[in-house]
Amino acid sequence: MVTIQHPPSSGDAVTASPVSNTRVSHHESTLPDASSPELVLVHPSPAELARTWRHTYPSWGAALPSERDYLDREAYLTMAPLGRDGGLTRWILTIRGLPADERPILSSCESLRKRAVVALPAAKGNKERRENGFGEGKEEVVVVDGIAHAIGSVFTEPAYRGRGYASRMMREVGERLRTWQAERTPIITTTNTPPRTLFSILYSDIGKHFYARHGWAAFPSTHVAFKPASITNGSPSVTNEHPISPLRNGNNNNNDRSRVSPPPSPPSPSPAAAHATRHSTATATPIGYHELAELCATDERLLRADLARRAQIDITAAAAILPDLDAMLWHLMREDFMTKRIFGRTPTVRGAVAGSPGRRVWAVWMRGYYGCVNDSKAEGKNILHILRVVIEDDNNNNNDSSKGGDERGEEDEDLVEGFRSIIRLAQREAAAWKTHEVQVWNPPARVGRLVAKCGIPYEVVERDMSSIPSLMWYGEGETGEVEWVANEKYAWF
Ligand SMILES: CC(C)(COP(=O)(O)OP(=O)(O)OC[C@H]1O[C@@H](n2cnc3c(N)ncnc32)[C@H](O)[C@@H]1OP(=O)(O)O)[C@@H](O)C(=O)NCCC(=O)NCCS
Repeated sequence: MVTIQHPPSSGDAVTASPVSNTRVSHHESTLPDASSPELVLVHPSPAELARTWRHTYPSWGAALPSERDYLDREAYLTMAPLGRDGGLTRWILTIRGLPADERPILSSCESLRKRAVVALPAAKGNKERRENGFGEGKEEVVVVDGIAHAIGSVFTEPAYRGRGYASRMMREVGERLRTWQAERTPIITTTNTPPRTLFSILYSDIGKHFYARHGWAAFPSTHVAFKPASITNGSPSVTNEHPISPLRNGNNNNNDRSRVSPPPSPPSPSPAAAHATRHSTATATPIGYHELAELCATDERLLRADLARRAQIDITAAAAILPDLDAMLWHLMREDFMTKRIFGRTPTVRGAVAGSPGRRVWAVWMRGYYGCVNDSKAEGKNILHILRVVIEDDNNNNNDSSKGGDERGEEDEDLVEGFRSIIRLAQREAAAWKTHEVQVWNPPARVGRLVAKCGIPYEVVERDMSSIPSLMWYGEGETGEVEWVANEKYAWF
């Protein structure tokens, strides 16, 4: 039996009052066991939602000027791309039968619906086709459209920790998401299979074991890091001249490891050489909002072609979150909110592209803030994230972490130069917007070669604790057999 103290004020509105004003207290000794049938997974009321936000603000909203800004941001994300139209779902674990606002929030999280695709071996694809009533047909179904849910903001109030509530919630959420919104999701598919939930993902900040125990296997968690730079006499200079520590964190977490020293930087090009290349197609030009639609559509086409090729050769499933316009806008509009509240203005350079039509390379990026920009202790918390790198090349597999590109491992000099120019622009933007690093998550083999050849100092970090991409597979077979294609920052939530 649970004893409840009624909150002093009911207040459904999302306000910035302190957490204690709406506290619902429960005698800890009377709380149900984590395995109790009394526990239930439900959606929070507005007041309960506000309560969870007030609790998470100190950890996740520190970059914003006030708690009010954090509450505003969370409400805003409900209306932004992906989140709107019910795409964002909030979950709480509580006690069955108690009225909203008078029940304990034993653990909480949220899920965000995203478009997803999987490539299945031709035999499995045909089975999908039969099961969905489309007959055998001549054509093999190899790429299946659907949705995936990304889980975030997993949180247990300190008083309720260590009792197994987050574990119980994750087990329930993992099962609930298997069918959540699959039927009523208005997704246009390019295959004739109906949309369904293909998998769920999350990014663990507490290492590789907790979520793996509940069904989300840890996937590669490597990133390449470049330092911010500013322009001096026409060429970039590194703003922080301290050597890169051999032991450092990926996301301000001391257990993440760095393993590759950067190569020495090549000499800056002479002014004459710089002039000669200024108008070359290998010189990066900024990407703004208006260029994104075409770039995302091209990216999706290339990714689908990649997946279709895999279905012919791979014996296991390959899964990807689609890097579509909404997936990018979710990041960019979140970034707009953050920069407007922090700096009073929003950035215009959201990435960069180089090369001629049909042979372009581009990167889309987002500045992420988790620490106060004027606080030296926030070092490492504010990052310019490359959301996605695309090499436009119909004949090559760009998203594979192990294959693709020229078989001899060589890349076109224009491509290398274009990539170098893009990264330099990213470094300048990183400095201008007070971030501490430029990161590229899990670069596939071809992008890795461009990183190595572009001549800009970098390091490779293997994260062990923070932002570990983790996936639960809802199809046939084991999660461990699935390949996560394009496991890059744009998929993050
Ligand atoms: C992580 C968190 C949700 C766990 O909630 P909980 O209800 O106490 O979880 P459970 O009781 O089900 O399980 C506790 C397990 O989480 C592990 N855990 C908690 N915090 C951890 C951390 N920072 N690093 C690694 N493991 C951690 C505990 O070691 C424990 O493991 P065990 O089962 O082997 O003993 C809670 O500690 C919390 O809200 N932390 C702050 C926010 C956060 O980090 N959220 C996770 C974001 S990915």
